[in-house]
Amino acid sequence: MLVFGIESSCDETAAAVVEDGKRVLSDVISSQVAIHARYGGIVPEIASRQHLLQIVPVLEAALAEAEVTLGDLDAIAVTNGPGLMGSLMVGVNTAKAIAYARGLPLIGVHHLEGHTYAAWLGGTDPAEDPGFPLVVLIASGAHTDLIIMRGHGDYEIIGRTRDDAAGEAFDKAARLLGLGYPGGPVVQRAAEGVSSSLKLPRAWLGDTFDFSFSGLKTAVLHKAQELGVYPAPDGGADPAVVADIAAAFQEAVVDVIARKAIAAVERYGAKGLILGGGVSANGPLREACRRAPVPVIIPAPKLCTDNGSMIGAAGYYRYARGITHGLELDASPSLAMV
Ligand code: KG4
Ligand code: ZN
Repeated sequence: MLVFGIESSCDETAAAVVEDGKRVLSDVISSQVAIHARYGGIVPEIASRQHLLQIVPVLEAALAEAEVTLGDLDAIAVTNGPGLMGSLMVGVNTAKAIAYARGLPLIGVHHLEGHTYAAWLGGTDPAEDPGFPLVVLIASGAHTDLIIMRGHGDYEIIGRTRDDAAGEAFDKAARLLGLGYPGGPVVQRAAEGVSSSLKLPRAWLGDTFDFSFSGLKTAVLHKAQELGVYPAPDGGADPAVVADIAAAFQEAVVDVIARKAIAAVERYGAKGLILGGGVSANGPLREACRRAPVPVIIPAPKLCTDNGSMIGAAGYYRYARGITHGLELDASPSLAMV
């Protein structure tokens, strides 16, 4: 079964052709990063206009790369939430138009369910190896959630961030350190090989699986001010000091996320741990989570950040459970996962 996966919830216009929820035949992403970078973050108005410009060429490229035509497709899956309203609308309306014109089943996919199913694209089926229940950690620009997945479509959210998402914290720290946007990759690069002399605070929030990163962000601000990094001095900040703060920040985020994810595996007797979302592209986080006492499934970095393949995979498994949507499917900016 060939599913066309379409993703436009934030700042990537993406489409992919996925076979049987497992095999990626094509994966095309048009990123708006360079456009938003000059504003230091995503401008929703610009994002939706860019999606409008990019969506048709991206879909055409995904079909061409997979060497298929619309006539070969069996279903259309699209992210219908959560995300930016104007951005979501472009993907949802395009998907509806194709489904209507071609008489194909339409499947709305929750963006975080998409991030979860990126783990199904790595050559093994996590439902069988290692099997359910699985702990799923989704760390992205807007979410930091710990989820128990007991079967396909069976989710219980056991922890979430109480303020900033992990990716948001990376983006804000990068801005304070003058490293640019998006923050994750630049902070990771700055911190590479640095063993920081600084220690920044961790919010453990007692015995819960919740997260909080706003205190850490404030600590980065204070350190950056104290060490002459923020506001940026004439001639730029000392790169060694910037690297030191970046490394201490990354270490704090990784420490909390990995420890909580591993504790969740132990508490719930999970057979495996899945990582997803843009922050899961982070090298030290991947390494720290691999210390879990169960198999750890982490998609390739390209499949951690937003893409169409994960939507195609999640859409396939939704369809297998009998879930399809009519043309009344709407973009839902704050769609709940369960
Ligand atoms: O999943 P994603 O592409 O979009 C959302 O659904 O939000 O995640 C984007 C987030 C951004 O905040 C970005 O800074 C972060 O993922 N990110 C990273 C890395 N690559 C992307 N964070 C840490 N380390 C990375 N290597
Ligand atoms: Zn995402």
